[in-house]
Amino acid sequence: FHVTWDAEAAEKEGYDHFMLKEIHEQPKGLYETLNRRIEEDGSIKLDGINMTKEDIENFNKVFIVACGTAYHAGLVGKFAIESLAKIPVEIDVASEFRYRDPFVDDKTLFIAISQSGETLDTLAALREAKRKGARILSVVNVVGSSVARESDDVFYTWAGPEIAVASTKAYTTQLMCMYLIGLYMGRKKEVISDEKYNQYMSELQDIPDKLTELLKSESSIHDLAKELYKKEQVFFIGRGADAGVSYEGSLKLKEISYINSFAIAAGELKHGTIALIEKDTLVIALATQDKLYEKMLSNIQEVKARGAYVIGIAKEGNKEIEKQADRVIYIPDCMDEVSPLLSVVPLQILAYYIAKERGCDIDKPKNLAKSVTVE
Ligand code: AGP
Repeated sequence: FHVTWDAEAAEKEGYDHFMLKEIHEQPKGLYETLNRRIEEDGSIKLDGINMTKEDIENFNKVFIVACGTAYHAGLVGKFAIESLAKIPVEIDVASEFRYRDPFVDDKTLFIAISQSGETLDTLAALREAKRKGARILSVVNVVGSSVARESDDVFYTWAGPEIAVASTKAYTTQLMCMYLIGLYMGRKKEVISDEKYNQYMSELQDIPDKLTELLKSESSIHDLAKELYKKEQVFFIGRGADAGVSYEGSLKLKEISYINSFAIAAGELKHGTIALIEKDTLVIALATQDKLYEKMLSNIQEVKARGAYVIGIAKEGNKEIEKQADRVIYIPDCMDEVSPLLSVVPLQILAYYIAKERGCDIDKPKNLAKSVTVE
């Protein structure tokens, strides 16, 4: 009788891949990232951030810089911080920022987002911003990483170790940190009403349970993946916060299934790209933003008219989309601004099962590293 103890299998806790395990760890990661920072009186305690009201009022802009999935978290973070803290937010990929002599000075809050905290482009961009006098705040998942050590303030995501090359729980906990930073700054600047603050906090605290509910749709998304895994080109479209999530959904699919997919702001389609849509082109249309819902329905009609096969992502209760899209994946109802915390998850699961049906090496995709510590 011989027992082989497979360390990796044990670590996967019964899941076939670390990526699926980490998708399912997101409710816990979000809970940890949020609830450790809420004081008894409901205010936010941003441990690791020593910014005074004066510091915050001194900033005349925020610059978010990151790579890959972390950059996509910044795309949503830009919306959140601009609307909550009433401050202009610029965003750039680190590999561009570091070479373009960006306008940064001692009135800039530079936010570096990095799961590993070791991405060379992000570290180089941080050093450039520091040289120009910016205040450096980093959002990282690895305690004591290089990015964390070289920052003035560090705001940790409590996602736990992320093993899969394709980032999932780091992304959603990075989003959570973006909301908290925006709320914290907005509160300190006294530009957020108590009502708006309390609404946001209540919505954010509901997310872990809503996400747990949403994860129950895993098997129906798996069934959908069985119909779609042979597709060789996939478009992700969305508007507002959904546009940012579209980029993340597209990257997930590309890096683990090797399908040529890309994301585009839905309003941009008519400026040329729609020429690529033909019969059976797969289009994944995110339509979770109430105020942009009608616009998205007409974008879906446009691509349907060219023969596309459309999968809609919408909030529960929005039945209209079922008349336009071929299939609809619903997420629990929530405030527009926080829907990225939920809408990305069906895209993570769909990418996972499409890659699985294609027999890809999901946790270790070809030619990819978990942390890109080279130029
Ligand atoms: C995301 O799934 C990829 N693995 C990759 O784009 C990653 O997000 C990027 O390399 C940034 O890594 P970091 O967050 O560790 O800096």
